[in-house]
Amino acid sequence: MHPFLFRSAKLVGPWLAALAMVACSGTAQGPDLSANAGSGGSGASSVEAGLDADAFTPDTAVDSEASAMDSALDQQMDSEAGSSCEPTKGNILGPYYKPDAPERDVLVEPADPGVRLTLTGRVLSTECAPISDALLDFWHADAAGEYDMVGFRFRGRFLASASGTWKLETIVPGRYLNGGTYRPAHIHVKVDAPGMAPLTTQLYFDDDPFNANDDFILPSLIMHVEGPPEGPRTASFDFVLQRL
Ligand SMILES: [Fe+2]
Repeated sequence: MHPFLFRSAKLVGPWLAALAMVACSGTAQGPDLSANAGSGGSGASSVEAGLDADAFTPDTAVDSEASAMDSALDQQMDSEAGSSCEPTKGNILGPYYKPDAPERDVLVEPADPGVRLTLTGRVLSTECAPISDALLDFWHADAAGEYDMVGFRFRGRFLASASGTWKLETIVPGRYLNGGTYRPAHIHVKVDAPGMAPLTTQLYFDDDPFNANDDFILPSLIMHVEGPPEGPRTASFDFVLQRL
């Protein structure tokens, strides 16, 4: 069995158990105060529009830009050798996780509305050493703040490289109501690697005006985002996993 599939199968059970234990925070109440704000859960309102997971081919092409990024990251890793990296803090799973997302690192389709976003980063140990072949499982709301609970729009899993680097192509998620206030834009992710404690967390954007009022945001999970508000935008984040 392919390691990706093996690890996916191994993790489905615990993740479903965790899903059942986490309190649901998203609601679909109140007025629509924002052009990119939704209700969070979609149900029948966000029926998947023609995305065929079986027909998807992961984008594994290595271009010169990616090679330059890997080279820079390798140099950074060398400079960090022997140092200490702080473990990434966990964040709530939330009610919208779905297992078995398609294997892909490009979540956005050409016709999808939304500000284009490229995320890059690494998976490291607490010794700042790269972790090979970590499984990353991302999910987030669409530009209108809706999660696709019917299909797998804006959901995908893939392995980080042998040197721990990863890259995700997607959009800046829309906001959705959490009780009476909007949650800031955020991207959910699970990270799992052999011999390491699984991580469930969320990534946030440093220029989101709703960060200040969120119940769940943590300063260490806020990414510095570059690029104009209308996009394209970029950000990076290093996941640091603890050994079991
Ligand atoms: Fe969420």
